[in-house]
This record gives sequence, structure tokens and C-alpha cells, in this order.
Amino acid sequence: MRKIFAVFALFIALGWQLNAQTTSLCHFDAKTKVFRMDGGNVSYVFGVNTRGELQQLYWGGKLGATDDFPQATPMPGWASFDSSYTNTPEEYVGWGAGLYVEPALKVTFADGTRDLVLHYDSYKLTPHGVDVVLKDIKRYVFVILHYEMDPASGILARSANIVNREPQPITVEQAAAAAWSLPAGHYTLNYLTGRWAGEWTLTQETLKPGERVIESRRGSTGHQANPWFAIQAGGPNDEHGDVWFGALAWSGSWRITVEQDQLDAIRVTGGFNPFDFGYVLHPGQQLDTPIFYGGFSAHGMGGASRLLHHFEIAHILPHRVGDGDNAAPKPRPVIYNSWEATGMNVSEANQMALAEKAAALGVDRFVMDDGWFGQRKTDHAGLGDWYVNPQKFPHGLKPLIDKVHSLGMDFGLWVEPEMVNPDSDLYRKHPDWVLNFPGRPRSEERNQLVLNLARPDVRAYVFGVLDKLLTDNDIAFLKWDYNRNWSEPGWDQLPATEQKKVYVAFVQNLYGILAELEKKHPKVEIESCSGGGGRVDLGILKYADEVWPSDNTDPFDRLTQQYGFTYAYTPQVMMAWVTDSPHWLNKRSTSLDYRILSSMEGSLGIGADITKWNDEEMATAKRLIADYHQVQKTIVQGELYRLISPRNGSEFSANEMVNHDKSQAVFFLYIHSTQEGRGFPRLKLLGLDPKAEYALTSIQGEAAPGTPTTASGAWWMNHGIDMGADFRGDFQAAAFRLDKK
Ligand code: DGJ
Repeated sequence: MRKIFAVFALFIALGWQLNAQTTSLCHFDAKTKVFRMDGGNVSYVFGVNTRGELQQLYWGGKLGATDDFPQATPMPGWASFDSSYTNTPEEYVGWGAGLYVEPALKVTFADGTRDLVLHYDSYKLTPHGVDVVLKDIKRYVFVILHYEMDPASGILARSANIVNREPQPITVEQAAAAAWSLPAGHYTLNYLTGRWAGEWTLTQETLKPGERVIESRRGSTGHQANPWFAIQAGGPNDEHGDVWFGALAWSGSWRITVEQDQLDAIRVTGGFNPFDFGYVLHPGQQLDTPIFYGGFSAHGMGGASRLLHHFEIAHILPHRVGDGDNAAPKPRPVIYNSWEATGMNVSEANQMALAEKAAALGVDRFVMDDGWFGQRKTDHAGLGDWYVNPQKFPHGLKPLIDKVHSLGMDFGLWVEPEMVNPDSDLYRKHPDWVLNFPGRPRSEERNQLVLNLARPDVRAYVFGVLDKLLTDNDIAFLKWDYNRNWSEPGWDQLPATEQKKVYVAFVQNLYGILAELEKKHPKVEIESCSGGGGRVDLGILKYADEVWPSDNTDPFDRLTQQYGFTYAYTPQVMMAWVTDSPHWLNKRSTSLDYRILSSMEGSLGIGADITKWNDEEMATAKRLIADYHQVQKTIVQGELYRLISPRNGSEFSANEMVNHDKSQAVFFLYIHSTQEGRGFPRLKLLGLDPKAEYALTSIQGEAAPGTPTTASGAWWMNHGIDMGADFRGDFQAAAFRLDKK
């Protein structure tokens, strides 16, 4: 048996090595055994060291074309306590041989052996990078590391494929997608934390010895932390300095560890969360990890986020039929959403009344939220029963959809397909379909349980109801909600040793359903919502056109949330609704123009009870929506510059967006609360063409008397703009556009 596997290994090695050694994105030097990848302004270099391990050599600004590296040499040991193995920055290190830092892979073999030492085996150049095969020094466990470089941004996509070619099963207890290394230095770690209604707090701390764990153990991405990090050399700075960043494309339990190791070097390891993990691979079986994207910018946190935004727009987000320009999906339609106006108390009449007012405002899409299905009156019942409630909609959805179309909008609908209320026909029929441990309590949250989407019958049911809904009705958009985290994550159809596969299979089936729906209903767009921003990551964004960042729609809170959100995600996907004042969460009162300007920094929506808006409010909203339509592409797909941060009680804040050819800029200014009569500071813009002439137009608010109506980019960037003396008070907002003459 072992012989067969040896031949297989040789075959892989020979077959793969016959390939050319250079592509435009990856070069392999057979003499030094060094792989070098270049893209954008970035080089990434790693090689086979003299011991046979795959060792990281360099990640940062682009090196000269002729710059070479000698063969990698392992780091020396540090006395008898830290061996060379634990000190060497490996690309994908197995837990074995006395490793004390975070392993990329940890397995238990059938005989109880828990020692895994991965050495280089072979490589194969691919169209966008390289696949490198590692193998345990003794046993037939292979890991194929995939590297793909985006030539424009230098963002590298890394993932691993773990293959068991042993004659016995192995259990994978920990599997990262990739590990990233940086040399010893002084660094600031940035990551995003929060809670329901308080997502997207940018958390910054100096990296110190030891490990910082950023994770979700919840079965889905989570509000509490987001799978993104950025490490800045030195202290935080938005426009200057080296920043290394990464984001995991996974919507299940995940973990990123950022470690300053025993020699002060940095290692970032991320992938499946090892907590409660145990994936059995039978002989011949394999496990694919999610993709861990990583990038570098020499232009501070702002530069890093701009690279990510463009990458997401070009390579992550779905590109739909009719998007036209292939490089970018269309800007999102301006939507109306019924949730904060009618709650679950939806009816044909109240939705039609809202639709009429929405159309009068210039809204493009009308979305009916929760409450239209099953016996849904409150959150106690109905989830799982995806038929139209006959009392609320006696003639089905058609009359409402027709009305919405006749008003010139398209129609969207709320669903929460992975959930079930115990008070539902579905649960009464299939109580075994939920995540559970037989004989144990089933913990409810919001009176609902989680369907076990890993089960083939549940997957088929969920796909079936959604497919029918989209086939029977002219629906352009689904708001796909997910309102709780997992508990009792049992999958009792499988043998006890296999049940933990649920962490992977659930998410794979979620992606599978979304992919199948996209195939069958290619025009239907998706919003990923999880009680706000509980499921935002680069995995779901391959299927979702937009996300709902937070249930907190307070326009002032949103400024800081949007500030954090856009470090990791493009404003294109950041839905932002204008809702009623005083706000339900903070009881804060704000003017309508302040609320609209705060929402205009992302993809604009209206979520207020507009049947109560007076003529003046209708006119203000109509005017600003029309202005927004004109500059939306610059706002959501341009270069974002954070001019003044709203964090830490800042009196003022400001953001600017510049389109790609620098022919247009839009900028927003906000006052939190004027103190001691201080006016808004002179605002110097960024990213314009210094030589071009730009005309200034107010969207809302007035610049200081004497401000030129036209001036050079150099003027706007060096001299800057002063606001009029009236721009003072609490929760004030202004916005302007600059257009190249
Ligand atoms: C949570 C979402 O975040 C809200 O916008 C709304 O859709 C409710 N669920 C509906 O139950």
C-alpha cells in the first residue's frame, strides 16, 4: 500500500515539475528554490529552506526585477527552549517537532500519532500564481498551497487543500488557510469589533509579545469581530506608512491569530476556527480551506482600504448581466425598505401607500421586509413557512409587485431561509431538521432555531422554497437575513466522530444554494443581513451584491460605524438608510438633511415612515436623492480619503471620494457639536489632479464667502476650503462636489 502512495507522490512531483518556471506573476528559481510573486506595487517571496521547509522570505513593496534571494536558511534555535523549527517563519507549518507558535495544520492519525512535519514536495505554476505541494516527512498527508496574485493590486489569495492518502482516516483538528509573517518591529494592529447595533469599531493596539485572537465561534461571521486585520508599521496613520492587511473569505466560525513570537517576529494565521473543530478525512478524502486574502500598501490605512475596495469590486462581488462595464458592478439602486415603518405588520394597503411615496422621492427599488409569510404576526411564528400570508395578501404578492412596477421601481423581498420558529408547519413536520443534540434542550434566540443546512434534505428544501418564490413572483432582490447564532451544533444524522463536519458543510451548502440560485435566477440580487452586520465577509460577498451593516440606523452612530466598515469593505456594498427622528435607539433628534448626508456616504436607502413626511421633507429628500444619483458612482466606487476621523469624541469629521480619472470629487463634512464657538477647520482635499481646474457645487450647505467657484486641484488640496460662519451647532452636515472643467 505504502508503495502505491510513494509512486503517487513521485508522479505528482514529476508531473508538476515539468512546467515552465516563470509566468508573469510567479517566478521559481530552481537553483535557490525561491518563489517570487509580483503584482501591483507588491512582492511576495518564499522558498524551500535548506531543511526542506517552505519559508517566507519577504512581503512588502515591490523589489527590483534583478533582486535575488539566496536559498532560505532556517532561523537558528534560541538555547534549548526554542528550536529552529519553532523560530522559522514557515508558510504553512504542521504541529509537530516541538512547535510552540500557532500551527497552520494539526492532525491526529488513526494510531494516535499527533506529529506532523510538512516539507516541500513539488510545485506547479498556474495562470495566476503557483500551487506548492507539501508532504509530511513520513506519512501520506499532502497539503497543496494555492497562491494567486492579483496583478493590479498585488493582493494575494492563499488557501490550502489537505489530502489524506494514508490508508487510515485522519482527524484535522486545526486548519488555517494561510499564515503571513513579518519581521520583528514596532507595529500597530487594527481590527474590527462590536456587538448587535454597535458593529464596526476600529480597534487599534500596539502589538506586544503573545497572541491576539480575533474570532467567531458562533457558526457564522458574527457582529463581535470581523475576519479582517491590518498591521501598520509604527503608529496609526491614514495616508502614510507600510500596512499589511488581510481578510478571510469565510462565513462560518473563523479565527485569525496575530502573534508576536518569542523572537518578536509577527505571524498571522487564519482559517477555520479550531474551537470544537474535528474534520475526519477518510483515505482519499480532502478538505479545502477558505481563502485568506492578503495585501500590502505603502500609503497607510487609507491606501490599504482603497486597494481592498477596488479588489472587492473587481474580483469578489457578483457581476450581473447588464452591469455593462465589466470591471465594476452597477452602483446599487436607491431602495426603500419597510422595516422601520411597518415592522411585521405589513399589508397590501400599507405597502402600496409606502410605495407611492417612495416612487415620488425617486427611489429605484421597493423592498418589503419581514412579516409577509406564514403565520407571521410577531417573531414567535412563521419562519420556515415561505408561503404568502393569505390574510395580509389575499391575492398573493402580485398586486403589490404590479403596483411597485407601475410606479417605476423594482421589487425586493425579505427572507430568513436558514431559520425556523418552533411555531411553524415546517418545525411541526420536521423537528429533526434543526441543529441539536438529541435529548438535550434546544436553546431558542428570538424564538427561533437554526435549520441544519448541512443536511442534504434541508439544503434541498431551502433551495426549493426560494426557487419557487423567485419563479412565481417578479422579484429583483432578496434581503437574506440571519437573526441568531448557533447553539447545540449537533448533526445527529452522522456518526459521532463525523458530526463536527457541520461547521464546514453548513457554510458550503449556504454558498451552494446561493450559487445555484444565481445560476437559475441570474438577475436576482442579494443583500447579506444578519440582524445588521453579523454576516459580512469576503466569502458571502462572492454571492451578495450588498450588505446591511447594522440595525443601528442612527445617523450619528453610523458615521463611526461607516468609518470602521470601510477599512475592510467598499462603500458600494454598504447600505445606509435614512430613518425617523428621534431615533429609536439613542432617542437623538437630527435634521433630515443630516440623516440623508450620513446615508449618502454609502449605498443610499430610505427606511423611514414616509407616509408621515410633509411636503417640505418630501422635497428635501427628493432633491438630495436626485443629487445622489448624479454622484453615486464616485461615492461608492471611487477612492475614499478619510480627512477627519469621527472617532474618540471628535468635534468634526469629513470624508472625500474621488473618481478614478480624478474628474470628480465629492466630500462630506459633519459637526458633532460645536464647542467654544470653533468653526469647522479649513479642509484640505486629497487625491485631485493638481493641474486641473475644478468647479465647486454645493449639495448641501455653504462655503465661506469668497470661496472660489472654480480653482485648481492644487488650490483645493493646498489651500483648502473654509465653511461659512453659519455652519455650527449640533449634528450639522454639508456636502459638495468638485467637477473638472
Ligand atoms: C433584522 C434586520 O437587520 C432588520 O433590518 C429587519 O430585517 C429584521 N431583522 C426583520 O426581522
